[in-house]
Amino acid sequence: LVVLKLGGSVITVKEEPLKPDEATIKRLASEVAASGVEELVVVHGGGSFGHPIADRYSIHEGFREPGQLRGLAETHLAMEELNKLVVEALIAEGVPAVPLPPLSCFTTRRGIISKAFLAPLRALLALGAVPVLYGDVVMDEELGFTILSGDQIVAHVALSLAATRVVLALDVDGVFNKDPKKHPDAVLLEVLRPEDVPSVEAGEVAAVDVTGGMARKLSEMARVASAGIPVFFTSARKPGNVLKALRGEKVRGTLLTSKC
Ligand code: IPE
Repeated sequence: LVVLKLGGSVITVKEEPLKPDEATIKRLASEVAASGVEELVVVHGGGSFGHPIADRYSIHEGFREPGQLRGLAETHLAMEELNKLVVEALIAEGVPAVPLPPLSCFTTRRGIISKAFLAPLRALLALGAVPVLYGDVVMDEELGFTILSGDQIVAHVALSLAATRVVLALDVDGVFNKDPKKHPDAVLLEVLRPEDVPSVEAGEVAAVDVTGGMARKLSEMARVASAGIPVFFTSARKPGNVLKALRGEKVRGTLLTSKC
């Protein structure tokens, strides 16, 4: 089983609200199809479909007033729209993709997954389908509601189903010693062990990100790698990277693993 995360900044134009990057979605769908991975779960991020609306209504801070309920619905609907584009692109390439809305199968407690109903996910996989989940609004036992990142879903699914590996398709080459968008001398870390993660100075993100950017991503993935599941970070901007990473071939990027 391989779990693939398509970063929101890759499949959307991050600075323009509700603008998908359709050419990239199509290319990545063809790379998924060409990879031949038989057991696959795809999780995608929100990018400019999720973050701006969630931020406007402070969804990630939890329920404060009834006016936010409209934002809860709008955020979910925007994510469904993006999910439709991803699923349709995969189907067009012959991948048996099926949408699976996280709002209906996860709840959180203070932002951390507390309950997960994975029966539909397992059943889809058993039939050879490719479930496509995404960062979403979810109901939270203490906060009322919050945002559940695609990264936390990736970690949860990979750990619960004992995935073989995780591939994170990003808009940067991998994990750097400092933010490569701000520091031209930043160095790509090719191999990283989970115990090194706390010392990596993860860069700040430019566009609004209600789920915490690279630092949060790394801590989620460190849990996965600590369980013996290797995590590949690679740039989805470069054609062929995701294809190779899905096949387990070497690509430019970061390998986060406990086995080295
Ligand atoms: C965020 O999901 C989803 C919403 C804001 C609704 P992610 O945190 O996984 O998205 P990206 O990959 O950072 O855009």
